[in-house]
Amino acid sequence: MKTKNFMNYIKLKKYGVAENLIIQKAEIPKINDYEVLIEVYASGVNRPDILQRKGLYAPPKGASKILGLEVSGKIKKIGKKVKNLKINQKVCALVHGGGYAEYCKVFYKHVLPIPKGMNFNEAAAIPENFFTVWYNLFERGQIKKNDTILIHGGSSGIGTAAIQLCKVHGCKVITTVGNKKKQLYCKNLGADLAIDYNKSNFLEVVTKYTKNKGVDVILDMVGQKYFEKNILLLKDKGKLIMIAFLSGSITKADFTVIMTKRLILTGSTLRPRTDQEKAKIAKNLHKSYWTAFTKKTIKPNIYKIFYLKDAFKAHKLMESSKHLGKIVLKTK
Ligand SMILES: NC(=O)c1ccc[n+]([C@@H]2O[C@H](COP(=O)([O-])OP(=O)(O)OC[C@H]3O[C@@H](n4cnc5c(N)ncnc54)[C@H](OP(=O)(O)O)[C@@H]3O)[C@@H](O)[C@H]2O)c1
Repeated sequence: MKTKNFMNYIKLKKYGVAENLIIQKAEIPKINDYEVLIEVYASGVNRPDILQRKGLYAPPKGASKILGLEVSGKIKKIGKKVKNLKINQKVCALVHGGGYAEYCKVFYKHVLPIPKGMNFNEAAAIPENFFTVWYNLFERGQIKKNDTILIHGGSSGIGTAAIQLCKVHGCKVITTVGNKKKQLYCKNLGADLAIDYNKSNFLEVVTKYTKNKGVDVILDMVGQKYFEKNILLLKDKGKLIMIAFLSGSITKADFTVIMTKRLILTGSTLRPRTDQEKAKIAKNLHKSYWTAFTKKTIKPNIYKIFYLKDAFKAHKLMESSKHLGKIVLKTK
C-alpha cells in the first residue's frame, strides 16, 4: 500500500495555553511487526490531553509526543506479525499517544472493529473512556448487579461511559454534576439520581436517598475535596476507586473510618499499563459490550466535533467544562 510520506498533525509549540496547539507537517509514523498504521478519520479529546498540553502529564517512555489517546479510521499498513486485521478495515483504537494526526500507529491488539452502524466520530469516542471505566469498575471495583454506585463528574466523557455501563449491569447509579443541564443529561443517560453539587451537599443527599445505607462503590475524579465525604458514604467493605484528582491529590487521610468499615481504596491510570494489560481490556470490552454498542443500548455521546486544525478550540471548550459527554476532532 502506497501512502504519501507526510501528514498533518497538531504540534504543541510549548507547554501552556490551548493556542500553543498548531497544525504542522510531519513524517507519517513507521510501524513495527506488531503494529498497524491507521489513517485517522477522527480522534477523541480527553482531559489528560489538557494536562499533557500544560506539561503536567508526561507521555510514558516510548510513546508518541503528539497528543491524542484514541482514534478511529481505516487500516493502511499492517505489520508482519499482526493477526486478524485487514487493510482498509474500519477500526477504532486506544493509542499510546499520536492521535491528533492524520496517521497514527498502534499495537494491533489495541485495535477494535467499529461497531456496526456507528460512524467514525462516535467510534473515536469509545476507547479511552470505556477502557478506563471498564477496568476500574469491573476489575478493580468488582461491581455487581444491584450495587449502588456513586459516579462523580457524571457528564464527563468518563462519567457518561460509567453511567451507561453500570445501568446495563443492573446497578443503581447516583451521580454528581455542576449544574441543572448536566443533571438532566445524566438522568436521560439512565442515572437514578443526579445531584447538583453547587446546590446541595452530596453527602446529605446520598445519605437520605440510600436511607443511611450508603453506596457500594465510588468512581472519583475529584480527589481531595471529596475524599472525606466519599469515605463516610461507603458501606462496610465499600470501594473508593480514584482515577484523577481534579481538586488536588489526597495527601492526608483519617484511617479510623477506613479501618472500621474495612474499606478498599484503589484506582489506576490507563496510559502507563503494559501493552498486554490493555490488550486484555480490549478483548473483554469487545466480548462483553460490542453487541450493546451495535444495538445502541450503550453509546458514546458526542457534544461537539472540531476539525483537527481547531484542536485549540476543542481544548478551550473542555477547559470551560461546559460540554456534556465527548469532544471529537475530525480530519475528513
Ligand atoms: N485514570 C485514568 O486512567 C483516566 C483515564 C481517562 C481520564 N481520566 C480522568 O478522568 C477525568 C474525566 O476525564 P474526561 O476526559 O471524561 O473529562 P471531561 O469530559 O473534561 O470532564 C471533566 C468534568 O469534571 C468536572 N470538573 C472539572 N474540574 C473539576 C473540579 N475542580 N472539581 C470537580 N469537578 C470538576 C466538570 O464537570 P462539572 O461541571 O460537573 O463539575 C468536567 O466537565 C479527568 O480528570 C481525567 O484526567 C483518568
